[in-house]
Amino acid sequence: MTTYLIKGARLAGGNRTDLLLRDGVIVEAAEKISGSGAEVIDADGLLALPGLVDLHTHLREPGREDAETVETGSRAAALGGYTAVCAMANTSPVADTAGVVEQVWRLGRDAGLVDVQPIGAVTVGLAGEHLAELGAMAESAAAVRIFSDDGHCVHDPRLMRRALEYVRAFDGVIAQHAEEPRLTQGAQMHEGVESARLGMTGWPAVAEEAIIARDVLLAEHVGARLHICHVSTAGSVEILRWAKKRGIRVTAEVTPHHLLLTDEKAGGYDPVFKVNPPLRTNADVAALRQGLADGTIDIVATDHAPHALQDKECEWAYARPGMVGLETALSVVVATMLETGLMDWSGLVDRMSVAPARIAGLAEHGRDLVAGAPANLTLVDPAARWGVDPAALASRSRNTPYAGLTLPSRVVWTFLRGVPTVHEGKAVR
Ligand code: DOR
Repeated sequence: MTTYLIKGARLAGGNRTDLLLRDGVIVEAAEKISGSGAEVIDADGLLALPGLVDLHTHLREPGREDAETVETGSRAAALGGYTAVCAMANTSPVADTAGVVEQVWRLGRDAGLVDVQPIGAVTVGLAGEHLAELGAMAESAAAVRIFSDDGHCVHDPRLMRRALEYVRAFDGVIAQHAEEPRLTQGAQMHEGVESARLGMTGWPAVAEEAIIARDVLLAEHVGARLHICHVSTAGSVEILRWAKKRGIRVTAEVTPHHLLLTDEKAGGYDPVFKVNPPLRTNADVAALRQGLADGTIDIVATDHAPHALQDKECEWAYARPGMVGLETALSVVVATMLETGLMDWSGLVDRMSVAPARIAGLAEHGRDLVAGAPANLTLVDPAARWGVDPAALASRSRNTPYAGLTLPSRVVWTFLRGVPTVHEGKAVR
């Protein structure tokens, strides 16, 4: 196994460091290391960050390998600076049994580009009627800790209560896709001035907020851990702020696209901007950024949602919701949170690595880059700018909403347990 000596990188806090990586761990971290025999990487001008962790990735395998596979999604993740991703359960078949989560876990291990931690479904077939085999998934080789029907809301409050009670026994987490379905029937975009202007059926903010309000109260009642997926409205941020102040065990994520884009994008009828929850207003974007900066929203998660061409390049009403995001997430967070002065690199490391690793219980990730820590890290050029070309993405799908945009910061190297997965900006395989 090659030993790597990273020379002259800066840590998020600003200190310069050399890092010696051997046998999967950082064996030394100091201002000057002379590691003879090591392959030297000149990291002058680069930032060394703990590998990013994505709590919300759709890898589409099994079932929709035409849109993404565990391997292509893992490659996209590594190129985005990630060393671990949590794979959502809305595959086909649904990841609602020990067999399917173990299959995804094994595919991730075989691809070997990031650690793939499967998320199990809360209900059988995501149908919202019967609890899935949560215990069997937790005890499987995949050791599932997070359960989610993402794409669908667990809308029956009794079932939600039971799910929270069940996972409390092993400190598991229910990750809720907060959408009251009776309020979003036929919805195509955010309900507001833009939807009225375009004549499209709206998805009102209250459909998200009502479920979050209900579920933080249920989590308090049960004493269990709740995570809210892709928070998208200012009202949701307010409810979360209240719940956290009250000591309720709730965490929340925001996506890069909800930090940058608004519902005005729907005006061009390009389905690349169709996503669930929908893009909201400028006031929502401002509240989400503020919530992420002050810690009300704990993490950034991509909701990387690859879709095959025929599912996206069609009329808006028929297009599937979702955007790819793994390869652009870091850059969009830099543009929206760092370049605006709302957060610094240490904040980014917390929201994109440390906190998601803690929520998911991934002990090998989100660690300080010190001697003895697993060598899961990424080297980023903070001065780089790059143009997003959908055809150049490693994801099997092309549905990025950032085509043609120039974004700041670029991943140059990523290491998984001391082995490069990205080498000078290119995937190693
Ligand atoms: O836009 C979305 N796409 N939101 C979801 O919740 C599900 C996801 C998907 O699976 O495509």
